[in-house]
Amino acid sequence: LRSALRRSAAASYMSIRAFASPPGQQRKVAVLGAAGGIGQPLSLLMKLNPMVSHLSLYDIAGTPGVAADVSHVNTRSEVKGYAGEDQLGAALEGSDLVIIPAGVPRKPGMTRDDLFEINAGIVKSLCEAIAKYCPNALVNMISNPVNSTVPIAAEVFKSKGVYDERRLFGVTTLDVVRARTFYAGKANVNASDVDVPVIGGHAGITILPLFSQATPSANLSADEITALTKRTQDGGTEVVEAKAGKGSATLSMAYAGALFADACLKGLNGVPNVVECSFVQSTVTELPFFASKVKLGKNGVEEVLGFGPLSDYEKQGLEALKTELKSSIEKGVKWHANSK
Ligand code: NAI
Repeated sequence: LRSALRRSAAASYMSIRAFASPPGQQRKVAVLGAAGGIGQPLSLLMKLNPMVSHLSLYDIAGTPGVAADVSHVNTRSEVKGYAGEDQLGAALEGSDLVIIPAGVPRKPGMTRDDLFEINAGIVKSLCEAIAKYCPNALVNMISNPVNSTVPIAAEVFKSKGVYDERRLFGVTTLDVVRARTFYAGKANVNASDVDVPVIGGHAGITILPLFSQATPSANLSADEITALTKRTQDGGTEVVEAKAGKGSATLSMAYAGALFADACLKGLNGVPNVVECSFVQSTVTELPFFASKVKLGKNGVEEVLGFGPLSDYEKQGLEALKTELKSSIEKGVKWHANSK
């Protein structure tokens, strides 16, 4: 494992150098909720990222231990742990990228929307601190329900006069990771060779994988596509049920979060043609926020890309998801308006 990690870190470092990213560029990354189920493995994976020079681990408690542990890994970044609200400012100050996996996860029988009340308040207070201490940072929102927490974050930033739609991202990468894995199983190809765009949002039917655009292409039947689509939409629930009350996806989410953060850092560092799916402010449909492929650059979103030609099945899925996605977005905006 160690040599595999070293090889992949070296490969990624070489690809950064190949794109002439300034050597030794300083990048501070803050993880908020770093002592949690996602936060801990995500902190470890960010410690392995050679683009990170400073890794700031914040939680309401438990971060000194996580930081001490992660800090012993012999990679570039300097790690600091911050615990409790009075240390949040110091944790955030100077951050280029803030990743937010803070909040409660689902238990069996719960939808992501059941988390709304608790997580909305957590996201609001963390985004207020971001607005104050690192208003120019890119924000990667993992806390659920993403379809509502991203609009809440936008409202917080607007109310503080610091909103820049290019810097706010809902992390939907786990849906892409799942779609790739499940497709690879059916198409009988190596999962690491597969790409599948996933559009819409991040809950149930709002998750719309575009298997018609999957590469490498495979001749799957309509029934197989329907089953793959459902499995991708229910992937989170599959894990929640298997964990039987002990939370939701943490390890695969940490992987997905690290993948997306890596893309954001590459964009910031000027690496060309970095494209990932994300839930962002969008004019691709009539909805104000929508997940689709996004080109990442030095200021965050460089371009929100359209979703290209859809199959009839995907067209139906797109129409079917709009009502729920619209109401989740509006729920976030309304909650913020009433929370003042
Ligand atoms: P967890 O309960 O294991 O960890 C959450 C952490 O957040 C805890 O350490 C807790 O102390 C911390 N926290 C709570 N309030 C905080 C605050 N005000 N400031 C800083 N930290 C705070 O939960 P887990 O499994 O790590 O999940 C975290 C969130 O990620 C949940 O909302 C979950 O639904 C979401 N999630 C999102 C996914 C996605 O694809 N976007 C996938 C899986 C989970």
